[in-house]
Amino acid sequence: MPLIACPTLQTLDQILPDEPLLMMGAGPVPIPAPVAHANSLVINHLGPVMTRVLNQVKDMARYVFQTNSPYILGVAGPGSATMEMAMANLVEPGDKVLCVCNGYFSARMGEMARRVGGDVLEYRAPEGGFASADEVLALVRQHAPKVLTLVQGETSSTVWNRQLPQIAQEASALGCLVVVDAVCTLSTMPLEMDAWGIDAVLTGGQKGLSSIPGVSLIALSARAFDAIRGRKVPVTHWCLDAQLAYGFWSEGKYHYTAPTSGILALHEALRLVCAETLEGRFARHLACSQALQAGVEGLGLELFVAPAARLNSVLGIRLPEGVDSARLRQRMSAEHKVEISGSFGAPIVRIGQMGEQSRAHHLFRTLHALGSAMRSEGASIDLPQGMSELERSLSQATAS
Ligand SMILES: Cc1ncc(COP(=O)(O)O)c(C=O)c1O
Repeated sequence: MPLIACPTLQTLDQILPDEPLLMMGAGPVPIPAPVAHANSLVINHLGPVMTRVLNQVKDMARYVFQTNSPYILGVAGPGSATMEMAMANLVEPGDKVLCVCNGYFSARMGEMARRVGGDVLEYRAPEGGFASADEVLALVRQHAPKVLTLVQGETSSTVWNRQLPQIAQEASALGCLVVVDAVCTLSTMPLEMDAWGIDAVLTGGQKGLSSIPGVSLIALSARAFDAIRGRKVPVTHWCLDAQLAYGFWSEGKYHYTAPTSGILALHEALRLVCAETLEGRFARHLACSQALQAGVEGLGLELFVAPAARLNSVLGIRLPEGVDSARLRQRMSAEHKVEISGSFGAPIVRIGQMGEQSRAHHLFRTLHALGSAMRSEGASIDLPQGMSELERSLSQATAS
């Protein structure tokens, strides 16, 4: 048999744009130089050097998650792999799971729980609104689920579950294992795992942390880990088995060959969070997001979600009548070298405010690109007003 022919290829230079796009969508986000440098290194995945790196990653993650738990695990995989690790380890066949849905990503945890045999009940938050603590807790009392899943910030609908602390605290006191998706929000806004009684917080690298996609983190409480140790049936997902992962992350044992470059990148991303401090980072994200919101409204555009439920980390901007999302975004990429995101069905485009996206110089470029491209697509836009609102809001934040 002759060998299957080698394909004809283009070089990456031929595929990638001449000038890198400014990544201002819902993730992945730009990464700082120390993260990019660390990601270019390969070290042994076992041994004393790796142990020191892992110990620091865990210490820094404890700060970022606001937990004293020893059960910090990294996962070679996307944010969804940490969701799947939580579901595969905490849910056994027949276990009741209450899944709070605000959109596409929060519903995914319910789907994953179903696939491992969970008996899943869904609570749907009102369109464009946050999950009501009263309603969710009433369901917890009525159904006594073993696991409750919810998202802090739902990237698809751009909603912030602002009653998360109350829901988590009370559900936890009622005996639920509370699983929180902080993929989009971690390090962009307050989250206190221990104080809020959360049993599993999961996140990806490519959003608030400004690391690379593909290496993710999960923190489990002692209560969650005890539940995993006490399982009656083994975890069906071998790579995602939390006890095997703990062997690697805390006992120097081989599980699978860890993504060493990505872990080094994550180390640097977390180090930069620590250097900035959580307080400083939250303040920067808030100031930048609010300034961008003022700028968008100054252009004459409408934000999708009302302020009470609005997620600051990813903004949804309603498309004006007659403006096509794909054409608009294509124009922004081609003419302004700025990339933003479309949506999962809602009539919006989305701009991220996560990690390195929340820098004043990126905001000016992005808002100008948005306004100019909208105008070219036929929308009525007040570009000077938008830019001046952005400038005013940023200067006010700097002065205060
Ligand atoms: C809130 C939320 N959860 C989960 C995910 C899934 O993350 P990943 O795409 O890395 O699997 C995303 C991705 O956008 C997200 O925004």
